[in-house]
Amino acid sequence: MRIDILTILPGLLEGPLSDSIMKRAQEKGHVEIHIHNIRDYSTHRQKSVDDYQYGGGAGMVMTIQPIADCIEKLKSERKYDEIIYMTPDGQVLEQSICNQLSTLKNIIILCGHYKGVDQRVRDLFVTREISIGSYVLSGGELGAAVLTDAIVRLIPGVLNDETSALTDSFQDSLLAPPVYTRPEEYKGHKVPEILLSGNTAKIEDWRHEESVKRTKEKRPDLFNNGE
Ligand code: ADE
Repeated sequence: MRIDILTILPGLLEGPLSDSIMKRAQEKGHVEIHIHNIRDYSTHRQKSVDDYQYGGGAGMVMTIQPIADCIEKLKSERKYDEIIYMTPDGQVLEQSICNQLSTLKNIIILCGHYKGVDQRVRDLFVTREISIGSYVLSGGELGAAVLTDAIVRLIPGVLNDETSALTDSFQDSLLAPPVYTRPEEYKGHKVPEILLSGNTAKIEDWRHEESVKRTKEKRPDLFNNGE
């Protein structure tokens, strides 16, 4: 898979996407992540990327020219399956969207800033708009990092234990069950007996029951959707 991210603040993305699992996924060749500085595409004298909004009002708007030029260049090099705009008014991200996006070959993620991008960018290029939650960030970069992480870890081979993404919370509309590691007892608090029993069938049953219990308690909305 190849992910091209367009931003005016590449530093916000370079850190999160060049460490840990994201680093390994790129080193192992499971994903190519390319971060493009929109400013590099500005034909303006001062390399500006924003301007006042027509009709007046506070806040700058990202101009179409540098974004369009960057997208056109990328599109001339390969075909893209989706061009995603990160925005608080997009579709709220959930696991099923990540699963679907992780099967694609090439995607572009566009990060907005200020009051957002000129509407014509959305009308002419964007195929999908995603929000990472009902709150407003300073820009789309942290959202793009969240989306990229959530997608890339699903690509086969990225996680060491291939089953671990399948047993994540949300994959079956249930939250993951409680987990324990050593010591067996901490200040009188014991690990549930069943987990020490070695009876794998019983352990699986217990985990499923705990998942159901946890989901009913913490996220009844998920439980009802999953029924
Ligand atoms: N940009 C600003 N706020 C955002 C959000 N909640 N999700 C995605 N992109 C954003």
